[in-house]
Amino acid sequence: MASPDDMKRKAAEGALAFVKPGMVLGLGTGSTARHFLDGVARLVQEGMDLKGVPTSFATAEVAKELGIPLTSLEERTRPDLCVDGADEVDPKLDLIKGLGGALFREKIVAAASKKFIVIVDESKLVPRLGSKSPVPVEVHPFGWRVAADALQALGATVDLRRKDGEIFRTDNGNHIVDARFRPLTTPAKMAAQIMGIPGVVGHGLFLQMADAVLVGTEKGIRTLRAARKPTRKS
Ligand code: 5RP
Repeated sequence: MASPDDMKRKAAEGALAFVKPGMVLGLGTGSTARHFLDGVARLVQEGMDLKGVPTSFATAEVAKELGIPLTSLEERTRPDLCVDGADEVDPKLDLIKGLGGALFREKIVAAASKKFIVIVDESKLVPRLGSKSPVPVEVHPFGWRVAADALQALGATVDLRRKDGEIFRTDNGNHIVDARFRPLTTPAKMAAQIMGIPGVVGHGLFLQMADAVLVGTEKGIRTLRAARKPTRKS
């Protein structure tokens, strides 16, 4: 029986088929994206000309260790392809991301990229966003409790994220409030309401952003394609 990690690896290997010589790649964050980094490193070792735009300090570190040349959005504002994991994927290919804490930069890189491919194991497929995962909300440390109260007023149960007993800090120096809602019936409305809260820097609802989702399953890779062209604005 394939483990979740085997399925993540399968999905990541599937995404390598979209990588072409000369591309600038948005490099996601998390354990599934890590498998993709391993594959990109192999291609680079074999001589393929590739550069990556990392979505987190952690990914930048790993990419450097693996010998993947890096660039930035200042130098290349339109990466050719972004490949990243997700915490939930609904039937419209809308996503929750950010349990790894990199949602802010991940969204910027995915939105800037010409193509955004999501790689997941099948446990990430849900009928509605919020079925299993909270919505991670990145908040500025100043007045974070006010933002948390406002999320509660929207119907969420909230938790300030901690790591190793300390308040978690994102790469941007912010906090994350994990907002657990009932499964969302109108994610776009919720996304707009969350973004309207003063102090909110970003949230993990990635709506109409993915071009395709590669799902690693027991039997192989399932490819889900967006029914309409993503706007990549959420
Ligand atoms: C990080 C993310 C990750 O892509 C998401 O949490 C999935 O992680 P994993 O591949 O480890 O399951 O959004 O901010």
